Amino acid sequence: MSRPTRDLRAFADPAALAAAGAAEFFARALRAHANGRIFCCALSGGATPSSMFRQMAERGSLARLPVGFWSSVHFFWGDERDAPPDHPDSNYRLAWEALLGRIDIPEKNIHRIRAGSGPALAAAAAYESELIQFFALHPGEFPRFDLIFLGMGDDGHVASIFPRSEALQERTRLVAAPFVAKLNSYRITLTLPVLNNAACIIFLIQGNDKAETLRRVLTEALHPDQLPAQAIQPGTGELLWLVDQAAAAALD
Ligand code: 6PG
Repeated sequence: MSRPTRDLRAFADPAALAAAGAAEFFARALRAHANGRIFCCALSGGATPSSMFRQMAERGSLARLPVGFWSSVHFFWGDERDAPPDHPDSNYRLAWEALLGRIDIPEKNIHRIRAGSGPALAAAAAYESELIQFFALHPGEFPRFDLIFLGMGDDGHVASIFPRSEALQERTRLVAAPFVAKLNSYRITLTLPVLNNAACIIFLIQGNDKAETLRRVLTEALHPDQLPAQAIQPGTGELLWLVDQAAAAALD
């Protein structure tokens, strides 16, 4: 495993970071729409992306988008908490309130991880079946998302792949449902083979509490078991780190 070339861009503050993330989304999704292709985007959760989602919704409600643009976009999730869609912890709820409920996107284009109404393992299996069907996968194939947004925890976790998690070793399943001891809860997450098969992965990282971890991830020897963000190495895809100055504070 070698370290991919790094495209890191630092922005003055969270608002500028959110605008940059939204601009990257529209640049790619509009190109796909212009070429008559659908655009499959997996959203991240946590607190960071909500500002970007709101900026996407604001641009999405203006007349500046081509007719039918949102009908060519399909939203998925990189991970989800073991909580129902109306729960404060739900990544779906975060995206619905900040973006999806504010744009004219067909319901069938929103591929929620159906967590919170049964075991996390069942939600993971259902999501995996939906991915296999939607991407028309043959056995052993992985879906290729056009864009996956990821955040990073201050422990270096990505999606819901945490340090020393068994999910780090998953090489065949598309979706896993690891028990996260530090959270005392199950999560549902795309696995590394799926994440690393994306055409483009964009990290969105903000805040001084991420600075030391970001420095370790980008400059120290590769120990993905301790720093799962180091395991994000898209084979043929782009890898873009969008950070604010606070998160970049420990980088030279
Ligand atoms: C989640 C996310 C997770 C998140 C990081 C960073 O479900 O929590 O998918 O991977 O991106 O924990 O979260 P913050 O943006 O809240 O710092």
